[in-house]
Amino acid sequence: MKNIVVMASGSGSNFQAIIDAIQSGRIKQANIAGLVAGKAGIRAAERAQSAGIPVKTMDPSLPHKKSENQLEEYLESWEPDLIILAGFMKKIPDKIVRKYHNRIINIHPSLLPKYGGKGFYGSRVHSAVLEAGDPESGCTVHFVNEQYDRGDIISQVRVPVKPDDTAETLSKRVLEKEHQLLPEVINQLLNPNSN
Ligand code: GAR
Repeated sequence: MKNIVVMASGSGSNFQAIIDAIQSGRIKQANIAGLVAGKAGIRAAERAQSAGIPVKTMDPSLPHKKSENQLEEYLESWEPDLIILAGFMKKIPDKIVRKYHNRIINIHPSLLPKYGGKGFYGSRVHSAVLEAGDPESGCTVHFVNEQYDRGDIISQVRVPVKPDDTAETLSKRVLEKEHQLLPEVINQLLNPNSN
């Protein structure tokens, strides 16, 4: 059995997809040891509570170094084999990236390297795709390295853009694909020798 830690800052629908995939057996040999909540009062934390998963919340009042140490302690306490950023909106400190080399993955709602980096998150990504007139968008799961949204790509799913799409409709269709892609990648990483 492998230990997963999920980190989220918002609604946590991807987190829920992971919980569901473990329950249904689409992710095998995995236990969610805990959720790191990027802030207090988020829906993802409620989902954790409903599923009986422990939550540790980052304290926004801490100065940078102390916040890094807090996150490091949270993660250490759960001994993760894999850390999943599922809508986590902060940059992971370099020392944590190095400590968990190739054991932190992130899901992003675009076809990286397009629309990645600091300014691109949530609906901003989809608005930018529509403004550029791109015929397709999608989602990407990648390893986390020291550069925001720039680690090695593990897998992508493409989603066609429709002529009448708004950021909201496109976001919804991309999110549906995220909910399939992320559990698939997690299962492959945890069980590389099974089909
Ligand atoms: C997802 O679309 C995820 O790809 C995106 O935030 C959303 C979280 O939704 N992540 C980023 O933009 C990271 N840069 P959720 O909280 O419902 O899973």
